[in-house]
Amino acid sequence: MNVLLTGGAGYIGSHTAIALLESGHDIVIADNFCQSSKEVISRLEEISGHSIRHYEIDVADRSPLKEICMDEKIDAVMHFAGLKSVTKSLDEPLLYYEVNLSSILSLCDIMVELDIRNLVFSSSATVYGEPERIPLDEHCRTSKATNPYGSTKLFIEQILKDLQNAQPLMNIALLRYFNPAGAHGSARIGEDPEGVPNNLVPFVTQVAIGNLEELVVHGDDYDTADGTCVRDFIHVCDLAEGHVAALSKLTSAPGLVVYNLGTGRGQSVKEVIEAFEDISGIALNKRIGPRRPGDVPITFCDPSLAEQELGWRAKRTIVDICRDAWRWQQKNPKGYKSTA
Ligand code: UD1
Repeated sequence: MNVLLTGGAGYIGSHTAIALLESGHDIVIADNFCQSSKEVISRLEEISGHSIRHYEIDVADRSPLKEICMDEKIDAVMHFAGLKSVTKSLDEPLLYYEVNLSSILSLCDIMVELDIRNLVFSSSATVYGEPERIPLDEHCRTSKATNPYGSTKLFIEQILKDLQNAQPLMNIALLRYFNPAGAHGSARIGEDPEGVPNNLVPFVTQVAIGNLEELVVHGDDYDTADGTCVRDFIHVCDLAEGHVAALSKLTSAPGLVVYNLGTGRGQSVKEVIEAFEDISGIALNKRIGPRRPGDVPITFCDPSLAEQELGWRAKRTIVDICRDAWRWQQKNPKGYKSTA
């Protein structure tokens, strides 16, 4: 298929670009490069041996987006574009609502107009809020998000459900990511957060490389086996393969589908740190700090629906995640700003 990846130069979009190419799809990237680097395009070309068609546009700008969809004869869209910082969303809620909602609205409008029927949306486990039960399955209730970023994911899920009701020929997959981490095995693409990372794995690798001074573990007095929070860390390449599987499902069984993309295994913050220290041979400079507001103690998913219906399952382990994230960080100490 001819797949448009909005935000295709970002962390998850870029890894999915490779997975799509490896599965024989053609891809086109639309990105405004506001949270990503143009360097990603040449790295994708290097890894895949393909030239990558790409456009520097804002997805909320209808006319260039429409032109691309027509010129490139797009059959399916994977929508990764969007602002993604939980903390920034608390400071600038209106910006988050405007950017994330206006882009999905323009995109859907154009898809309906041009009769492009297949859409895969990057949703998040954040839509479950305080988990109703563990492991989280797709029937668990979604609940009010604790931040505007999370709210945009919930709202967009609702918008897409309403759209699919009104346009039953549209095929839509909502993919709820758990905690994506790691990097491509080539160490040419990986996670490159702007400023100080919020998420655990990039924070760990940046302390190890010396960009940051110390790792603060946000609380070790939770009601968990070792007192630290438990999450479902999924290798970004497994996540990317989940997108390819979801795309085939859309074209074979139309409608709206929702899948958790996670491993089904919970790993504590301490376990992740230990796995990283083991594989890197580095003893991290770390201390225990207070709890981080908004953190839930335990969350991991039941990924069996994706396994049954997509024939997909996460294959990589936390050791693979730490090894690949560390290789990426070592080869790119300043992310894409490092010299190639
Ligand atoms: C966070 C976001 C979530 C988003 C997800 C994307 C919050 C409250 N939630 O989830 O909306 O979808 O990232 O991956 O920000 N930790 C430390 N020290 C650090 C960094 C993290 O101890 O320096 C701990 C956290 O307190 C948490 C665990 O590591 O217990 C995982 O944190 P993180 O990687 O930020 O993911 P989530 O909180 O699950």
